[in-house]
Amino acid sequence: MVDVRASKAAPFYLIFILQFVGIATQNCPSPCFCKGHFEVYCNNTGISEIPKGIPKETTVLDLGGNKIKKIPYGILNGLLNLTFIGLEQLGFTGNEIEAGALNLPNLTEVDLSFNRYMMVPPNLPKAMSRMYFFYNPIEVLDARSFNDYPSLEYFDMSNCHITHIKPNTFDALVNVNTMHIAFTKLTNAGVPDGVFAKNTKLDYLNLRFNHLNGLLKGLPSSLENIDYVGNPIKEIPSNAFEDLPHLKTLGFWNSALSKIDDNAFAGLVNLTILDFMSAAITSPVTNNTFSGLPSLQTLYLDDNHVPSIDIGALRDLKSLTSLWLSGNNLSTLDEEVLDTKYIPNLNTLFIDFNPWYCDCDLRWLREKVGNASYVIQDPHLIVCHGPEKVAGKPWDELKPEDFVCN
Ligand SMILES: *[C@@H]1O[C@H](CO)[C@@H](O)[C@H](O)[C@H]1NC(C)=O
Ligand SMILES: *[C@@H]1O[C@H](CO)[C@@H](O)[C@H](O)[C@H]1NC(C)=O
Ligand SMILES: *[C@@H]1O[C@H](CO)[C@@H](O)[C@H](O)[C@H]1NC(C)=O
Ligand SMILES: *[C@@H]1O[C@H](CO)[C@@H](O)[C@H](O)[C@H]1NC(C)=O
Ligand SMILES: *[C@@H]1O[C@H](CO)[C@@H](O)[C@H](O)[C@H]1NC(C)=O
Ligand SMILES: *[C@@H]1O[C@H](CO)[C@@H](O)[C@H](O)[C@H]1NC(C)=O
Ligand SMILES: *[C@@H]1O[C@H](CO)[C@@H](O)[C@H](O)[C@H]1NC(C)=O
Repeated sequence: MVDVRASKAAPFYLIFILQFVGIATQNCPSPCFCKGHFEVYCNNTGISEIPKGIPKETTVLDLGGNKIKKIPYGILNGLLNLTFIGLEQLGFTGNEIEAGALNLPNLTEVDLSFNRYMMVPPNLPKAMSRMYFFYNPIEVLDARSFNDYPSLEYFDMSNCHITHIKPNTFDALVNVNTMHIAFTKLTNAGVPDGVFAKNTKLDYLNLRFNHLNGLLKGLPSSLENIDYVGNPIKEIPSNAFEDLPHLKTLGFWNSALSKIDDNAFAGLVNLTILDFMSAAITSPVTNNTFSGLPSLQTLYLDDNHVPSIDIGALRDLKSLTSLWLSGNNLSTLDEEVLDTKYIPNLNTLFIDFNPWYCDCDLRWLREKVGNASYVIQDPHLIVCHGPEKVAGKPWDELKPEDFVCN
């Protein structure tokens, strides 16, 4: 019985599938690959002309990685629903897109990555809101780059060769919320003060791995996230962020900070993540290094050379849940530093790879292992450097009673 039913049902099912596939392949221009009815992927198919017969319903068209030499005016006419066009990796240098060729009412996303542009080309869609421009050899950004594209909300110019941004470059971008200018060659001399000041909707500024040796000045107060990771920034002065009260995340890992001045983060009431991993910090954490950060949840201080932490250093961090102190130069710590009256919400603590001096003064910390409102991670990696009797021993092999003074 079951077999008969199955063999009757199968043909209906098959016919349905074949019809569906039939429609999809009929409308897909050779040699492209189509997904559903509306996404047409002609990328990396070896074509040198834009194929004929692109369905008028198409929303996504990828032409990248081909030998296409230009985008002629009129060739995409009728693609009224096109929202994304991929023109990546075509070897374009400047004038390959003819005037009007991309003026389609719904075309807002353009991928121009992996080309040979030394400029942002003309004739991009007026309504463009997202531009992918990574891996182009462009060196200088100026006002001509963006004046025609005031609808831009997002751009990614990472991995370009940008050394200079001219004054007023971004003035037209009143809607931009995200800028990725990472892995380029910006120095402080190449970024005029206030060049982002008109971008009053800017939320995320990604400056990872540039050559900045100091913080930028005149940033818009709308910013919530700044990524300075991988820049040789040397110092964070007092009140460095007083004009950026809405900041939620600040990233500095892999920088060259030797000094964080007292009250550097004053006023950042909504800052939740502060990342100083591998930031070359050699100064002690004072009572005022992290003052005034009531929303801070995660503090990464791992892989620095922090020699000591003052008793009241964490007292303002009422929201702190994870504290990363691994890989520093701490030999001891006062019990009051981690007192729950200061940091009532702490739940994860990393203290491994420090030269702990395991005498009676530090016994309290060993007692907290498996015995506190927070978890001390990786006790087998927390090793005593002294006194001699316990030197080299990991904490999971020691008892609190082993922490003695002579
Ligand atoms: C074309 O690009 C899409 C994503 O945009 C990708 O998933 C696909 O693998 C690419 N096709 C070829 C043949 O490279
Ligand atoms: C564009 O999309 C809308 C809604 O999905 C659809 O009704 C319309 O027919 C499409 N236009 C074209 C030219 O395909
Ligand atoms: C495309 O643009 C037209 C004209 O602006 C608009 O009426 C239509 O709804 C848009 N289609 C989609 C899918 O957004
Ligand atoms: C901080 O966040 C709260 C809650 O999201 C918000 O109401 C407040 O305006 C923010 N304050 C600042 C200075 O951004
Ligand atoms: C660590 O601290 C000791 C003194 O406690 C000092 O001699 C040493 O130079 C410091 N090491 C680093 C890498 O900062
Ligand atoms: C740091 O703060 C604690 C707690 O408020 C206080 O006991 C200590 O004296 C302060 N240390 C310095 C150097 O100000
Ligand atoms: C747990 O902590 C308390 C004090 O906080 C201490 O008296 C006790 O000895 C600790 N227990 C262990 C097993 O370390």
